[in-house]
Amino acid sequence: MQGFIAYVLILSFISPYICLTLEYVSENNTYNVMQYGAIGDGKSDDTQAFSSAWSSACNAEGMSTLVIPSKKSFLVTKVNFSGPCDAKILFQFEGKIVAPGKEEWKAESHWITVGYLNGITIDGNGLGEIDGNGSTWWDCSNCVRPVVFHFHSCNDLTVSNLMISNSPRAHVSVNQCNGATFSNISIDSPATSPNTDGFDISSSTNISIQDSNIKAGDDCIAINGGSFFVNVTRVTCGPGHGISVGSLGKFNSTERVSDIYVRNCTFMGSTNGARIKTILEVSSVSVNSVTYRGFNGTFVGNVAINLNCSSSGCFNIQLDKNNIVAAKEGGNTFVFCRNAHGTVRDTIPNVYCLSE
Ligand SMILES: *[C@@H]1O[C@H](CO)[C@@H](O)[C@H](O)[C@H]1NC(C)=O
Ligand SMILES: *[C@@H]1O[C@H](CO)[C@@H](O)[C@H](O)[C@H]1NC(C)=O
Ligand SMILES: *[C@@H]1O[C@H](CO)[C@@H](O)[C@H](O)[C@H]1NC(C)=O
Ligand SMILES: *[C@@H]1O[C@H](CO)[C@@H](O)[C@H](O)[C@H]1NC(C)=O
Ligand SMILES: *[C@@H]1O[C@H](CO)[C@@H](O)[C@H](O)[C@H]1NC(C)=O
Ligand SMILES: *[C@@H]1O[C@H](CO)[C@@H](O)[C@H](O)[C@H]1NC(C)=O
Ligand SMILES: *[C@@H]1O[C@H](CO)[C@@H](O)[C@H](O)[C@H]1NC(C)=O
Ligand SMILES: *[C@@H]1O[C@H](CO)[C@@H](O)[C@H](O)[C@H]1NC(C)=O
Ligand SMILES: *[C@@H]1O[C@H](CO)[C@@H](O)[C@H](O)[C@H]1NC(C)=O
Repeated sequence: MQGFIAYVLILSFISPYICLTLEYVSENNTYNVMQYGAIGDGKSDDTQAFSSAWSSACNAEGMSTLVIPSKKSFLVTKVNFSGPCDAKILFQFEGKIVAPGKEEWKAESHWITVGYLNGITIDGNGLGEIDGNGSTWWDCSNCVRPVVFHFHSCNDLTVSNLMISNSPRAHVSVNQCNGATFSNISIDSPATSPNTDGFDISSSTNISIQDSNIKAGDDCIAINGGSFFVNVTRVTCGPGHGISVGSLGKFNSTERVSDIYVRNCTFMGSTNGARIKTILEVSSVSVNSVTYRGFNGTFVGNVAINLNCSSSGCFNIQLDKNNIVAAKEGGNTFVFCRNAHGTVRDTIPNVYCLSE
């Protein structure tokens, strides 16, 4: 009889403790790719380990953390971090992911995909790195070259403190996302690498790219059709083709872009500063209400300010407090306008060709 009482007492003391312990674990779910068989030597294929670790992190409840540990290099052929997930995920991305040579890629148009997620945070903590091994692709002009890091249907996304280099095509693409902040992203590919945009944004709203450094072979940032409320702040571009809206009219003439703010950016050795591109045949693409303010610096070539609009015209273009001079003393400084309407104030060179 005494023995039985003792048993019941112990159980009733232990059982609430067990409940608490389980709850504690589920609130701190951490999934490290090493626990799923990743090797991290830069040579073994760790694709399966990444995929298994992701599924566990995604299917967990509450908050979960996916860990790619630092000081290791993981070779993956293709990886899809897609939801929908039960958990809200923190992605602690402190190691390096490397791509194999072109022949071993399993990816079609995207190598690392992040999709169908709400509220994911990806933090490289200044250590995380992605190397797309693009040099094995750049020579192949008729290949469909993949994007390294693709975000699709992600809302409330934060990506920070990461390095991304050597993409076969665009380094980061953002499509159909609403609410994303990218900060302290360092992108690095050679000036000669073809189509290697830094960021390529399309059909997305409320996107911010800040405090980043982008060296690329094509556009630093391209903002394509269906994008609204995009802020680019304190980004340094170059080499590359500068920050571009468009090309618009690629798919149809109703592609729209508005509420884009490019502020406190630096362009060094880029072929353009900030530009808007439309497709020549689609004359109905209209350009309206564009302000260029506080562009100060030097340029090489012939045209410092080029407002070259199609027959449908550009309207309400405002130039204010700009000062652009030739890098070479005594060099020519030309401005060019065609079908461009708007006003100019306090700007060097004098944009005499802008009409009211
Ligand atoms: C990634 O997974 C999602 C959801 O399962 C799927 O819709 C998408 O096509 C996949 N993407 C790639 C590139 O495999
Ligand atoms: C790139 O691919 C080549 C060819 O397969 C391979 O030898 C090399 O190790 C890869 N580079 C990186 C950084 O992974
Ligand atoms: C920003 O990223 C760089 C390199 O990726 C790193 O050295 C630096 O510590 C990062 N800054 C922060 C605040 O993490
Ligand atoms: C914009 O995105 C941020 C998160 O990236 C979010 O906090 C904010 O509510 C969003 N605003 C709108 C209007 O969607
Ligand atoms: C962009 O900047 C505008 C004006 O400063 C601000 O109202 C808006 O919230 C910012 N949006 C994002 C996505 O950062
Ligand atoms: C034009 O393209 C946009 C995507 O940029 C799409 O949302 C829209 O439905 C297209 N319109 C037509 C008429 O095809
Ligand atoms: C840009 O820089 C100026 C001068 O340092 C500062 O006053 C302004 O707040 C900055 N704007 C943004 C959006 O960071
Ligand atoms: C203006 O645009 C037309 C059509 O794209 C092009 O042929 C011409 O060279 C451009 N002129 C300047 C000065 O950029
Ligand atoms: C840029 O140049 C304009 C015109 O000379 C001047 O008003 C403005 O103060 C300059 N801005 C900076 C940040 O140097």
